[in-house]
Amino acid sequence: MKSLLTMDQLSTEEILAILHEADEFSKGKTWQPENQTFVANMFFEPSTRTKCSFEVAERKLGFQVIPFDAGSSSVLKGESLYDTVKTLEAVGVSAVVIRHEKERYFDELKTIHIPIINGGDGCGHHPTQSLLDLLTIKQEFGRLDQLHVAIIGDIRHSRVARSNADALTRLGAKVSFSGPVDWFDESIIKQGTYLSIDEAIEQADVVMLLRIQHERHKMISSLTKEEYHQTFGLTLEREKRMKKHSIILHPAPVNRDVEIASELVKCNRSRIFKQMENGVFIRMSVLKRAIQQQNEGEKIYETHYK
Ligand code: CP
Repeated sequence: MKSLLTMDQLSTEEILAILHEADEFSKGKTWQPENQTFVANMFFEPSTRTKCSFEVAERKLGFQVIPFDAGSSSVLKGESLYDTVKTLEAVGVSAVVIRHEKERYFDELKTIHIPIINGGDGCGHHPTQSLLDLLTIKQEFGRLDQLHVAIIGDIRHSRVARSNADALTRLGAKVSFSGPVDWFDESIIKQGTYLSIDEAIEQADVVMLLRIQHERHKMISSLTKEEYHQTFGLTLEREKRMKKHSIILHPAPVNRDVEIASELVKCNRSRIFKQMENGVFIRMSVLKRAIQQQNEGEKIYETHYK
């Protein structure tokens, strides 16, 4: 692993190694590269958690973070993504984190030599979100296998659902899906079973709610937000029917009182802010591996672009 673009490029052993190192970072482990290391966070879509936690992770690792603002860069003059990343590589940046609205934007960056960490590509993939979700689950239950994870909501437009369904299945978890049929995606759904919202919430060890991706599509025209909440959301009443030990995850930002009742965002079962905390440690682990492998001069470009 040098670049990290999708979860399916990581073996289960690599996933577990990243989680292990992230857990060590969470317990105070430190690491810094021997040489001065510049990195840039290139966000072409809005972000709070991913961008800020990458920056905190980079600073904790002693990297120098080059400010990159897509809105004031030469992208506005028509420069391509490839030429923009190639420019950063040329001036000495050692790794870039990219979030872009275009699915698989990284396919056009195959000849870039520095590591690329995918911070989210359209409806495609969000590998570091998946890794921080896995870490949060593993910290809670001590394992990932033989757990039932219900992924609920806007599955079709969710890069989080795509990345998690793949990884959880390979790691031995049972994955089920629930939510509006209009938002199902055949390519993901085949990795799990469909359950009604009430079955999913009553049976799951992990209730993973997804944000409705308003920016990628229109709300189901026949449903108001309140109707969505009552039909597919985690209401106060449904939370009472969760198993005693079950936890709630949500990648955030949260649409309060739509996917989840506002009062439940910080309830005892919720690990939503724990997920954010873990985001820093996962990103430290991913960046460390990328920079170490880059410095060791590994030439593994093609294998990272499935
Ligand atoms: N979960 C997540 O990706 O949040 P941001 O969009 O704020 O980065």
